[in-house]
Amino acid sequence: MGKKSELCLKWSLCHFALLTFFLGKARGQIRYSIPEELEHGAFVGNIAEDLGLDLDKLSMRRFRIVSGSKKQYVEVNLENGVLFVNERIDREELCEQSLSCSFHLQVVIENPLELYRVEIEILDVNDNSPSFPWTEINLDISESAAPGSRFPLESAQDLDVGSNSLRSYLLSVNEHFQLDIQTRSDGSKFAELVLQTPLDREQQSAHQMVLTAVDGGAPERSGTAQIYITVLDANDNAPVFDQSFYRVRLAENAPKGTVIIKLNASDQDEGPNADISYSFSGHAPLKARQLFSVDPRTGEIKVKGVIDYEKARMHEIYVQAKDKGPSAVAVHCKVLVNVLDKNDNLPEVILTSVSTPVQEDAPPGTVIAVISVMDKDSGENGNVDCEIPHHIPFQLHSSFKNYYTLVTSDFLDREAVADYNITVTARDMGSPPLFTRKTILVQVSDMNDNAPQFKQPSYTVYLTENNAPGASICSVTATDPDSGQNAYLSYSILEGDIQGMPISTYVSINSDSGNIYALRSFDHEQLKNFQVTVQAQDAGFPPLSSNVSVSVFILDQNDNAPLIVSPVMQNGTASTEKVPRSVDAGYLVAKIHAIDADAGQNSRLFYQMLQATDSSLFSVALYTGEIRTMRQIEEKEPTRHRLVILVKDNGQPPLSATVSIILSVVDSLPALQPDLGDLSQSPHHSTSFTLYLIMALGAVSFTFLVPSISGAPGCTEASSSGAHPQVYCYKMCLTPESSKSDFMFLKPCSPVLSVQQNNAKSTDYLTSGWSTLERNELSNNRAATPNECGVEVHLPAYIVLILKRQIL
Ligand SMILES: *[C@@H]1O[C@H](CO)[C@@H](O)[C@H](O)[C@H]1NC(C)=O
Ligand SMILES: *[C@@H]1O[C@H](CO)[C@@H](O)[C@H](O)[C@H]1NC(C)=O
Ligand SMILES: *[C@@H]1O[C@H](CO)[C@@H](O)[C@H](O)[C@H]1NC(C)=O
Ligand SMILES: *[C@@H]1O[C@H](CO)[C@@H](O)[C@H](O)[C@H]1NC(C)=O
Repeated sequence: MGKKSELCLKWSLCHFALLTFFLGKARGQIRYSIPEELEHGAFVGNIAEDLGLDLDKLSMRRFRIVSGSKKQYVEVNLENGVLFVNERIDREELCEQSLSCSFHLQVVIENPLELYRVEIEILDVNDNSPSFPWTEINLDISESAAPGSRFPLESAQDLDVGSNSLRSYLLSVNEHFQLDIQTRSDGSKFAELVLQTPLDREQQSAHQMVLTAVDGGAPERSGTAQIYITVLDANDNAPVFDQSFYRVRLAENAPKGTVIIKLNASDQDEGPNADISYSFSGHAPLKARQLFSVDPRTGEIKVKGVIDYEKARMHEIYVQAKDKGPSAVAVHCKVLVNVLDKNDNLPEVILTSVSTPVQEDAPPGTVIAVISVMDKDSGENGNVDCEIPHHIPFQLHSSFKNYYTLVTSDFLDREAVADYNITVTARDMGSPPLFTRKTILVQVSDMNDNAPQFKQPSYTVYLTENNAPGASICSVTATDPDSGQNAYLSYSILEGDIQGMPISTYVSINSDSGNIYALRSFDHEQLKNFQVTVQAQDAGFPPLSSNVSVSVFILDQNDNAPLIVSPVMQNGTASTEKVPRSVDAGYLVAKIHAIDADAGQNSRLFYQMLQATDSSLFSVALYTGEIRTMRQIEEKEPTRHRLVILVKDNGQPPLSATVSIILSVVDSLPALQPDLGDLSQSPHHSTSFTLYLIMALGAVSFTFLVPSISGAPGCTEASSSGAHPQVYCYKMCLTPESSKSDFMFLKPCSPVLSVQQNNAKSTDYLTSGWSTLERNELSNNRAATPNECGVEVHLPAYIVLILKRQIL
C-alpha cells in the first residue's frame, strides 16, 4: 500500500482526499483508490460529477470507458455517472507482490470528443494468511548437539504486501529451543531454531513444536507448521551392570560348562551403541581366567577348569562390559565365587613311627606305632575318625585330635600269633563318608618262653639181644614252638650208671637227630632192661630243656644151650648111678637136671633118650628128665648100662646138650642115696646162704610183682603182667642146694657183668652165673650187692612161704 493510504484510517476518507487532490492538480486525469476485493456494484466514484459533465447529456454524448485489460473490473452507471466495481479485483492477482498496484481507464465522450484518463489504484487488503510450504517440518538432531546450535526453518509466505505481509514467527513453548528471527536483505524474514539446553535421547527421543507465522494485518492473520524433531543417538551412555558386585556360591567339582551367573549390563543407547560385549577385565587374575570363561555375547560365566575347594575357597572374577559404539567406555564388575566344599578327599593315614617287631613279652600299653590322619576337606567332611578291629590285642589311643597311638592291650604270644596285620580304618564324617585303610604288619619277636617237648611222654625200645654194636636202636624227637635259636634243639643223654658202668658206655645219641645208638651188643641173660634219660635243650638264652625217659628192653634170643646141672659129668665121663637089681618097673633111677639161661620157649627143655645099651629097660621122661626102669631087671642081664640123654630147648633153632650116665646094677644098695644127684656135698651149703636167696627172691618179686609162677621143674618164669608174657621174665633156677633146705635155691637171671656171648656156654653154669667172688661173698653170709639186683628188699615172710609152696 502506498504512503498516502497509510495516512488515512478509512478508505472512504482517503477517497475523498485523494479525489480532491487529483482534481486540483490535473484537469484531464482522475484518480481513484479503492481497496481490493470489493463486491460487484461497490461504489468507486462519481466520475460524471468529477469530470463536470452534465448527467443528461451523458448518454447523448456517448460516455464510455475503455479498459486496457481484458477484465472489465469497473463500469459506469450512465444514469447517475457513478463508477462501480464490476468484477472482484484481487490485488495479488493483478499486481502480485508489487507494492503499488493500479490500472488505467480511458473515458471517451463524443460531441465533442473528450478524452479523460482515469487511474484506479487498488489498495491492499490483508486477505492472505502466512503459510508454510509444508505443514510438517522434520528435523533430526543429534543428542550430542551443543547448546547454541542453529537449525534454519523453512520460511512462511504471505501474499499480502506491506503491513499485511509476514511480520513474525512464534514457537510453541518448549524447554530446549528458542526461535531466532532474521531478516533477509529484501526484508523478508526467516526463523532459526536455536538449541538452548542439551538434548538427551535417552530421556526424550522426539520433540514436537508448533511454529506460527503471523502477518502485520489488522486483524493479523497467521499460519502454522508442526515441527517434529527426532533426537539422534550418540554413544553417550556406557553400559551399566545391574550390580557392581555379585556373590555366587559354587559347589566344588562343578562340571565344566556349569553356568554360575549370567551378568546383565544394559546400555541406554541404542543400536551398536547398546550392543554389549563382555570379557575379563584386564586385572582379572590368571587363575580365574583358567577356571572360568565369560561368554562375550550373553554375559554367562561358566566353569572351564576344575574347581577345587582345597586349592581355593573363593575366586574373584573381574568382568568388563563394553558397547560397540564409537569411543566406547568399558565398565567393570566383580563376581565373588564362594566355593562350597564337597567330600571329595579321602582321609590320609600317615604312620609316623612304627616299632616292629615287638617283643612277645612286651607289657600291655607298649606303643607300636604313631598314626596321624588328615583330610583335606573341611567341616564334617574333614572330620576323621580312626579305628582298628576289636578282636586283636591292640588298641588305638588318641591323645590329640587326629593323632593316635597304637598300643598293645594284652600280652602277646608269638607261638599263637606270630604277626598281625592291623588294618587301620580312617573314616570321615561326610555323607557319604569316605575312608582309607592302611595295614600295619606287626611282627612279634620270639622269646625263649617254651621248653622243648618230646613227641611222646616216654619211649620204650625193644631190642633183640646180640645186636651189632653201633646199631641205631631208636630215635627221639622233641619240638620247640619258639623260633630260631630258641627252637634249635640238641639232644643228650644224662649221665648215670647201668650196673656200675656209665651209661655213655652203653648208648650214645646224635645230638642233632636224636638217634640213639647202642654202643655194645647186649645180652638178655645179663641185662634185661635199662632206662636212660634223654634231654632236649634249645639254644635260647637262658636255654630251656626237658627230659624224657627211654626204656630199653633187651629181648631174648636162643643163644644159650641147655646146661646139664646134674648128674655132673666129671672130666667128660658120665657119672655112675647104682640101680638095685630087685627094683620094680617105674623105679626112679636118676633125674637129669638141666637149665637154660635163655628165657621163655628158649629155655623150655625136653629130654630124650639118645643112646641106650638096652632101650627096653630105661626110659627118660620127656619133660621131667626122670630116668625110670621100664621093667624088672633080669638076673642074666648085664649090670652095666650106658645111657646118652639129649636135652633140647624149644628155641628156633633149638640148642641141645647131651649127658651120658652109667648105670650099674647092684644086688643091694649099701646106703640110700638121695634122689637128686650128689651135689649136696657142697660145703658151702648153709642156712645163711638160704636166707640170702630168700632176700634175692623177694627183691625180684617185689620188682616185677610176681602174680604167678609156673611150675616148670628146674626153672620158672615170672611175668610182670599178663600183657607182656614174653618180655618180663624172671627165671628161678633150682639149684642142687635146694634139695637140702626148706627153700629152693633161687638165682635171679639178671645182671651179670662178665658175659660170654657164644652159644656154647661154659658148662660151669653156676660159676658163670655167679662169679667165684660172689659165691664166696654169699657163703660168707654177706648181703647182696646192688650190682646184682639193684635194690635190696626185705621180703615179708608170707610171700616167701607162698612162693615156696607154689614152686614145690
Ligand atoms: C537386564 O537388566 C535390565 C535392566 O535392569 C532388565 O530390564 C532386563 O530384564 C535384565 N535382563 C535379564 C536377562 O536379566
Ligand atoms: C599280612 O599281610 C601280608 C601282606 O599282605 C601277607 O603276606 C601276610 O600273610 C598277612 N599276614 C596275616 C597274618 O594275615
Ligand atoms: C632233667 O633231669 C635232670 C637230671 O635228673 C634234672 O637236673 C633236670 O632238672 C631235669 N630237667 C627237667 C626239665 O625236668
Ligand atoms: C681128667 O682127665 C685128664 C686126661 O684126660 C687127666 O689128666 C686128669 O687127671 C683127669 N682128672 C680127674 C679128676 O680124673
